[in-house]
Amino acid sequence: MKKVITYGTFDLIHVGHINILRRAKEMGDYLIVALSTDSFNKTKKKKAYYSYEERKIILESIRYVDKVIPEKTWEQKIEDILTYHIDILVMGDDWRGLFDYLKPYCDVIYLPRTQHISTSKIKDDLYEGRQS
Ligand code: CTP
Repeated sequence: MKKVITYGTFDLIHVGHINILRRAKEMGDYLIVALSTDSFNKTKKKKAYYSYEERKIILESIRYVDKVIPEKTWEQKIEDILTYHIDILVMGDDWRGLFDYLKPYCDVIYLPRTQHISTSKIKDDLYEGRQS
């Protein structure tokens, strides 16, 4: 069984998220999402609207996602790959090159991001709408 992992915050789920989850799942048989915890987000100065538990419930209800695990640190990836016998790590191409150091452990694939949508854009657009 080919196992795929991807990492992210996945707040305010949008079509870009669904596209990457679908394409990640299509690369193998079993998709694990390592979901950033609220305390990890704090270290990145990135506050999610939904809590970890809420984001986890939403992700688990998506048909492409087989398992959600916590992403607590930048450094956990090698351990995750070994623990879950991961074959492929998939990320959007905004991360291109940044995970190449994992290539001795598994395939690392960067997929093109879906254009014109992001959680930050949703927040900005809603905020602007409130202003007008
Ligand atoms: N992603 C994507 N296409 C988009 C937005 C995100 O393929 N339009 C991918 C990212 O490249 C990443 C995963 O979805 O691999 C999770 O990204 P995340 O940071 O949670 O979502 P963003 O919408 O990029 O959030 P933000 O705007 O807060 O950075």
